[in-house]
Amino acid sequence: MKLSKKIVYGFGLAACAGMLLSVSGMAENAAEADYDEDLYGPAELIIWNKPVPRVPFSHKVHTMDSGFECDACHDDLFEMEAGAAEAMDDFTMQGFAEGKYCGACHDGDTAFDANADKNCAACHTPPGQIVFTRPLKAVIFDHTMHVDSLGYGCSDCHSNLFAMHIGAAEQNEDAFIMEALYRGEYCGACHDGDQAFASDTRCTTCHIGVLGFDRQFGGGGEQDGEHH
Ligand code: HEC
Ligand code: HEC
Ligand code: HEC
Ligand code: HEC
Ligand code: HEC
Ligand code: HEC
Repeated sequence: MKLSKKIVYGFGLAACAGMLLSVSGMAENAAEADYDEDLYGPAELIIWNKPVPRVPFSHKVHTMDSGFECDACHDDLFEMEAGAAEAMDDFTMQGFAEGKYCGACHDGDTAFDANADKNCAACHTPPGQIVFTRPLKAVIFDHTMHVDSLGYGCSDCHSNLFAMHIGAAEQNEDAFIMEALYRGEYCGACHDGDQAFASDTRCTTCHIGVLGFDRQFGGGGEQDGEHH
């Protein structure tokens, strides 16, 4: 949990206070200077992006803080090469549930269970707001509201309704349409007039339109969490 909190904290500071940011930057540099890479492995986070963007792994947390030796992971679970696991088909949540890779420990026994809903955010940072622009510009979706205010768990949407990857649903413009929502797919799984307001009502609550998009993103700006 500390890791993801630290990342969120960093973003918050960057957004509001440049002065504080430089202080925290100095503190981090000092911590890095004390860190011995020969004893504890690379100081830099390993970051995977396939298929979920920005999933971090910290050597420090696992060696210096948790006391594992290198051979707890190398080379039985992981090659000593950043990115190698990402190329494997079974480097997935299902693979972890079968005890592979991170799942050798993150099984709720040796370490917190990777496949428990309350733990997803330890490794995955949800983006704030997503704006869909295809097939129709523009539809708004807010993670913070659905997760923090309404209390949905990550597994309520991932991955039965949505892949954990911005742009996945839009890739299929013929399928990501109102007809599908009316059939109970995508947003329509909840926006059915029962759990949440129906998809055939309140059009402009979801559809902010081209004008709304331009107002919010200045006509061509990047949306939150976009990563092209
Ligand atoms: C808890 C598991 C774990 C432990 C313990 C661990 N590592 Fe790693 N290490 C990883 C993972 C995961 C990767 C990335 C592999 C991948 O992306 O396929 C990695 C990658 C590396 C890399 C490659 C970095 C790069 O940029 O290519 C080096 C070097 C490395 N580890 C050294 C060490 C050393 C030295 C130790 C012991 C002090 C150690 N590791 C302990 C999990 C671990
Ligand atoms: C050799 C066992 C082992 C492996 C393999 C392992 N972990 Fe861990 N991990 C731990 C332990 C132990 C902790 C300490 C927290 C706990 O006890 O639940 C931990 C903590 C963490 C934390 C929380 C950091 C913090 O301080 O809040 C994250 C995030 C994490 N691991 C991610 C990963 C990822 C991603 C992988 C696979 C790439 C992985 N771990 C593989 C044992 C392991
Ligand atoms: C211990 C860290 C960790 C935790 C906790 C974790 N994940 Fe993952 N997750 C990963 C890693 C590592 C990958 C593979 C690398 C990537 O996709 O960038 C991954 C990939 C995924 C993927 C794409 C591959 C697949 O399995 O289909 C989905 C979807 C996903 N995670 C959802 C979740 C959900 C939902 C939860 C909570 C129930 C969760 N994750 C908890 C580390 C974690
Ligand atoms: C009510 C539905 C819903 C819930 C609940 C939800 N998500 Fe999402 N999430 C989405 C949608 C929709 C997307 C975008 C999918 C697409 O574009 O195809 C997405 C995308 C993502 C992405 C990809 C970000 C990127 O940059 O590509 C991550 C990471 C993510 N979610 C994490 C989480 C985590 C962690 C939780 C739980 C704390 C969570 N989500 C809960 C609907 C949800
Ligand atoms: C897991 C269930 C679930 C899914 C999936 C879901 N929502 Fe929601 N959403 C809700 C609930 C519940 C509310 C609260 C409003 C209500 O009770 O009618 C809500 C509220 C909203 C609101 C805010 C309404 C307001 O009054 O401000 C918007 C906009 C919205 N959803 C858009 C979407 C979009 C777009 C998608 C698909 C990308 C989506 N939602 C997927 C359950 C869901
Ligand atoms: C719960 C949120 C939500 C509500 C309410 C909603 N839509 Fe949509 N709409 C979407 C999403 C998501 C898409 C697909 C993404 C995109 O086109 O940007 C979409 C796409 C569309 C499209 C293009 C695809 C197609 O089906 O032809 C049209 C047109 C459309 N909506 C019209 C409407 C109208 C009219 C209403 C009100 C009767 C409405 N929508 C209400 C979420 C919603």
